[in-house]
Amino acid sequence: MRQQKLGTHMAVAVEGIDLARATSATQAALVKALHDNLVLCIRDQDLAPVAFRDAMARFGTPVKRLQLAATPECDEVNIISSEDRDVLGDGKRLVNGASWHTDDSFMQQPCSLTMLYGVIVPSSGGDTHFVNMYAAYEALAPETRARIDQLLVVHKYQSSRQTNRVSRRSESEMKAMPEAIHPLVRRHPATGRPGLYLNANRMEQVVGMARPESDALLDQLIAHAIEPRFQYRHVWRRGDVVIWDNRCTMHKANADYPEGERRLMHRVVVA
Ligand code: SIN
Repeated sequence: MRQQKLGTHMAVAVEGIDLARATSATQAALVKALHDNLVLCIRDQDLAPVAFRDAMARFGTPVKRLQLAATPECDEVNIISSEDRDVLGDGKRLVNGASWHTDDSFMQQPCSLTMLYGVIVPSSGGDTHFVNMYAAYEALAPETRARIDQLLVVHKYQSSRQTNRVSRRSESEMKAMPEAIHPLVRRHPATGRPGLYLNANRMEQVVGMARPESDALLDQLIAHAIEPRFQYRHVWRRGDVVIWDNRCTMHKANADYPEGERRLMHRVVVA
């Protein structure tokens, strides 16, 4: 197994392994590489949906996500596609994950890791952007850290602060997704490192803080966290499996690829 750093402060690529046949020593090395680098890309995989789900199950328990379409072969493998539409809304094309976010923060138990498998990648563009939320937290002034360390934030599927359109959900789905409250600063259970926990599209308000003050604080923290110095941009190759840790990163999809080209990703998230 060969490793190559991808960004200056996050992301590593691994070559020379077949995920479907990884030994327990290889698996332990992959988990360490993920904890050390926050984003792990495993190159040159060839995984049908069930094999993809099974390989990802070694990192945690795969969970179904009804907000996205699933493959016919395996309902824990969701589809993210250039052909996605807001089916219950206006039926128009919709780019899932186009603004900075961490997955599932509107849920009481968000997924820990997300795995995306590049099935069809466009000839250019369609990169996924990441930010390192440990580094963003560490770069805050000590007085800002002291101010925010104990704060809690309400997250919602349909936040009044949302920065990009989210697909419309049925009444029963919305009922199953009541708001969730999460700390603004989270300590990662495996690494012990504190990081900012933000979601530009889902955060509603800081608990116990007046709306104008809360908006100003959240805007300031988001603007800080997405500064280019904390970013890594993943340029996809077909067959990449990219795994990221939602507890210490944010990410966003870029829909800047040539018109008419397809982009198809398979996605698994684990509890
Ligand atoms: C996501 O936000 O989960 C998808 C990211 C991407 O399609 O690049």
